[in-house]
Amino acid sequence: MWQFCFLVIVGAVVVSAQFPRECVTPEGLRSGQCCPSPSGLPNDPCGSSTGRGQCVSVAVDTQPHGPQYPHDGRDDRERWPSRFFSRTCQCNGNFSGHNCGRCKHGLTGPNCDQRVPVVRRNVMQLNAEEKRAFVNALDQAKRTVHPDLVIATRHYPGIFGPDGNTTQFENVSIYNYFVWSHYYSVSKTFLGAGQASFGGVDFSHEGPGFLTWHRYHLLQLERDMQDMLQNPSFALPYWNFAIGGNTCDICTDDLMGARSNFDMNSLSSNSIFSQWRVVCESVEDYDTLGTICNSTESSPIRRNPAGNVNRPMVQRLPEPQDVADCLQVNTFDTPPFFSTSSESFRNTIEGYSAPKGNYDPIVRSLHNLAHLFLNGTGGQTHLSPNDPIFVLLHTFTDAIFDEWLRRHSPGLSVASVFKKRIVLHNGAVSFCANLKCFPTDAAVYPEQDAPIGHNRRYNMVPFWPPVTNSEMFVTAPENLGYSYQAEWPGTHLTRTPLISPSEKCSDDL
Ligand SMILES: *[C@@H]1O[C@H](CO)[C@@H](O)[C@H](O)[C@H]1NC(C)=O
Ligand SMILES: *[C@@H]1O[C@H](CO)[C@@H](O)[C@H](O)[C@H]1NC(C)=O
Ligand SMILES: *[C@@H]1O[C@H](CO)[C@@H](O)[C@H](O)[C@H]1NC(C)=O
Ligand SMILES: *[C@@H]1O[C@H](CO)[C@@H](O)[C@H](O)[C@H]1NC(C)=O
Ligand SMILES: *[C@@H]1O[C@H](CO)[C@@H](O)[C@H](O)[C@H]1NC(C)=O
Repeated sequence: MWQFCFLVIVGAVVVSAQFPRECVTPEGLRSGQCCPSPSGLPNDPCGSSTGRGQCVSVAVDTQPHGPQYPHDGRDDRERWPSRFFSRTCQCNGNFSGHNCGRCKHGLTGPNCDQRVPVVRRNVMQLNAEEKRAFVNALDQAKRTVHPDLVIATRHYPGIFGPDGNTTQFENVSIYNYFVWSHYYSVSKTFLGAGQASFGGVDFSHEGPGFLTWHRYHLLQLERDMQDMLQNPSFALPYWNFAIGGNTCDICTDDLMGARSNFDMNSLSSNSIFSQWRVVCESVEDYDTLGTICNSTESSPIRRNPAGNVNRPMVQRLPEPQDVADCLQVNTFDTPPFFSTSSESFRNTIEGYSAPKGNYDPIVRSLHNLAHLFLNGTGGQTHLSPNDPIFVLLHTFTDAIFDEWLRRHSPGLSVASVFKKRIVLHNGAVSFCANLKCFPTDAAVYPEQDAPIGHNRRYNMVPFWPPVTNSEMFVTAPENLGYSYQAEWPGTHLTRTPLISPSEKCSDDL
């Protein structure tokens, strides 16, 4: 192990996948261990000699999953990440990262004990300079090679390359990693040359993990951009897409790009994003040749807000009332924990149910509607993060999720429910009301029988180091080091008006 680490640090040049660059050597992959040393601390896996962390076995979810995925042993993402690695760094206290060389979100300093605010704000309320800085930061992330992670370009059986000793990984930019990881989570199961790939699998949508997965996805981008900018307070803003109407208010050249005057489906050449090129477009190759999306960029972003004339239902953005309504759906998720779940907060905010929670197969609301409204790159699941609107659309979805968690306090013990309520609502909320509605945390985020990847203790695919759905099922300001500046119907907790007072609901919280 020591020898391996030394070898890695003196710099074998390797290209690789969703794993740390130093772990994807042939020796590293064969060892099944990915416990690198923090930079500047050679031969100290996980910084253990200074108490930062230790190398441990990865815990893998063993509960049964739902019936949607009928195969076993055919997909690298099963029991993630055990196909690739079985040992990882586990960091202590305020340390984090694949080698415990980083601080947790919202903390900084050599000992990671200084708090810094990470406040996500409404993008429309940024001043001109803040807008410019945000757009430039995204563009820098599109062009900056990810400092730690590399992407796999083959499934595991081909990962050692034609000669059995050339691992198939590539460098990727910070932003393109964000796109790639989403693609990897939704891609079909390759069943062999000449066979149709299996599409009934999705590790990040149509299940309870939808909210927890996308939460971590954004957290990772925000953290990578903080490091890139050397600004631990950098925060991704959000787009309040629940404004009704058929106008994309953030589609201006100072933000996400106006429409081109020459092509309805393209971005104005005054926007930096007109120069972006997408990755992960060659789905036919991936599904017939059994390859994986690589870092090669292809065509420009397509976008035609409100332009889907064949589908009038997706020509209007969600209404403010839709947000108020979905926040009143009390149960986090309901059997079958899928895109057909009714009275499920998750399926409602995801947008397969009507905003009040009733499942209706023809409905597309909230998150799904905002994607489909874009009628282009941002509306196609395997490509959507290529359009930077994805970031803002998902921070808003995450803000609604966080407000729901705050109101419903699922997953907290009786004692901490009590404590949390006192802190957040100044004692206004009764302890008994919470007990009655939410008897145990298992009742709100399912332990088992969710679609593959979505069980509570499943490690979310393809993140590294491993992180479970359950770790993201907690309120952000208290547990994850960031917060939203937003105001919600029925509360007066924060500053920025988001929904007009006339829409205040009679929620007893
Ligand atoms: C983590 O940081 C917080 C905030 O500064 C501090 O109060 C706490 O003591 C730190 N924890 C450890 C284990 O260093
Ligand atoms: C792989 O390459 C390494 C370094 O070049 C060499 O030591 C090792 O013997 C090779 N292994 C195989 C299986 O070819
Ligand atoms: C990948 O990126 C790393 C870090 O920037 C660099 O050292 C390495 O040479 C790059 N590899 C390739 C093949 O470009
Ligand atoms: C990257 O993907 C494209 C599209 O599938 C493919 O044509 C190309 O050969 C791939 N590049 C590498 C280096 O594998
Ligand atoms: C965009 O709208 C057109 C016209 O209704 C439709 O044919 C096309 O499939 C839509 N494209 C996407 C990506 O949603």
